[in-house]
Amino acid sequence: MKSVLICYESQYGYSQRYAQWMAEKLDCPTLPVAEVKKDDLRKADLVVAGGGLYAGKVGSAAFVKRHSSELEGKLAAFFTVGLAPVERQGDMEALLKKALPPQVQRNARFFFLRGGMDASRLKWVHRMMMKMLVEMTKKKAPDQRTKEDQGLIDSIGKAVDFSSPEAVLPLVDYIKGLR
Ligand SMILES: Cc1cc2nc3c(=O)[nH]c(=O)nc-3n(C[C@H](O)[C@H](O)[C@H](O)COP(=O)(O)O)c2cc1C
Repeated sequence: MKSVLICYESQYGYSQRYAQWMAEKLDCPTLPVAEVKKDDLRKADLVVAGGGLYAGKVGSAAFVKRHSSELEGKLAAFFTVGLAPVERQGDMEALLKKALPPQVQRNARFFFLRGGMDASRLKWVHRMMMKMLVEMTKKKAPDQRTKEDQGLIDSIGKAVDFSSPEAVLPLVDYIKGLR
């Protein structure tokens, strides 16, 4: 059976929790990207990586870029964790295709998971970014807003959590099929 390593980048713990749910099902280790050594990647047969979405920036994408030579042919799955439901999968795939080096994503399948947000726990910089994002979104006419836009506006000042252990099952099944 092939060995699996799950690497994640998580600001508020949602991607970390998803990584742990995956690891329980796959019986494999998890590591935050800041702690991953080249050797960890060399030893693993299959790598799963992912992280939170921050205004179009994808957690773990810089890590994947940095380790593209170790990850080539090994990155089996990449997951994103965002607040909004992924309405237009094509747009998200296009974002990831841009964010990840082509040679690394060749064998990788993408998975889109929903996290959460607690406005009272946001770091100052994220609170300011959210404020700007919401102000920009509110400028759109209500009938022009997507579900993502509305979700963003509705989350202001609230604590919401859409994460669920069942959401990892498609990724887990996919990795099991490769083992
Ligand atoms: C400043 C900021 C920007 C965000 N931008 C997006 C976004 O573009 N799309 C999205 O779906 N979620 C967005 N989110 C929500 C986060 O992706 C969500 O809270 C996620 O669960 C964070 O995962 P993490 O705790 O693993 O980092 C944003 C959150 C903050 C604070």
